[in-house]
Amino acid sequence: MAKHDHHDHDHQHHEHHGHGGMAEMPHRFEHAEDWVGAFDDPARDAWQKPDEVVAAMAIAPGMTVADIGAGTGYFEGRLSAAVGAKGAVIATDLEPDMIRYITERAHKAGWANITAQLGGATDPGLAAASVDRILIVDVWHHLADRVAFARGLAAALRPGGQVIVVDFELTSDRGPPKEHKLAATAIASDLAAAGLVTSMASESLPDQYIVVARAK
Ligand SMILES: C[S@@+](CC[C@H](N)C(=O)[O-])C[C@H]1O[C@@H](n2cnc3c(N)ncnc32)[C@H](O)[C@@H]1O
Repeated sequence: MAKHDHHDHDHQHHEHHGHGGMAEMPHRFEHAEDWVGAFDDPARDAWQKPDEVVAAMAIAPGMTVADIGAGTGYFEGRLSAAVGAKGAVIATDLEPDMIRYITERAHKAGWANITAQLGGATDPGLAAASVDRILIVDVWHHLADRVAFARGLAAALRPGGQVIVVDFELTSDRGPPKEHKLAATAIASDLAAAGLVTSMASESLPDQYIVVARAK
C-alpha cells in the first residue's frame, strides 16, 4: 500500500463514526473487497516485513497457529508454509465477509492447512489449550475489551505457546489516527493483566513494534 493508504482508509472509516474515543471502537471492515487493495498491496511488504514477523514467531513445522483479525489473509501464505502439511492455521475475523474471502483465497492458493472461522468481539473463539502461536496484527486498538480478549488468548495457548502482537508505533504515519494508536507498553500491560509474561521482540520494522507474550 502507498505510505498513507492504510492511514487514509482507517481515518476515513473513523470519520464516519466520529472521533469520540474508544467507546466507538471497534469500527467495521465489512466488505473484504473494499480492503484487499490496502491490506494486500505488494508495497506493504517493504514496511510490514512479513518474513521478519513470521520469523519472530519461531514457528516449528507441525504447530497450530492462529491469526486473529486476519483480514483478507495477508499473512496466511507465509503461516501456511511455516507450519507445513502437518500443521494448521486458524485465521479468524470478526467480519463474516473476511471469513468468506480467506476461505476462497485459501482454496485458490492451495493452502490446505488453513481454516477460517468467525471470532468474537470479546472472545477470540479458540478452544482452550489448542494453539502454539497466536499472531495479531493491527487489531489490538479495535478490541472492545482488551484484557478480556487477552485472557481468551492466554487460555487458548498450549504449554510453551506464545502470543505475538504487531502494531503501530505512536509516532508512525501509517496505521490508525494517532488518537487510536496504542503504545507497546499499553498492549504489554493488557497481556500482563491476563497473566502472561511479555517481552519486546528484536525487529527492524520501520513503523511497528512486536510484543511477545508467554504463559508464566
Ligand atoms: C486493520 S485490519 C488487519 C488485518 C490483518 N491482520 C492484516 O494485518 O492485514 C483489522 C482486522 O481485525 C478485525 N477485527 C477487529 N476486531 C476483531 C476481533 N475482536 N476478533 C477478530 N477480528 C477482529 C477486523 O474485522 C479487520 O479485518
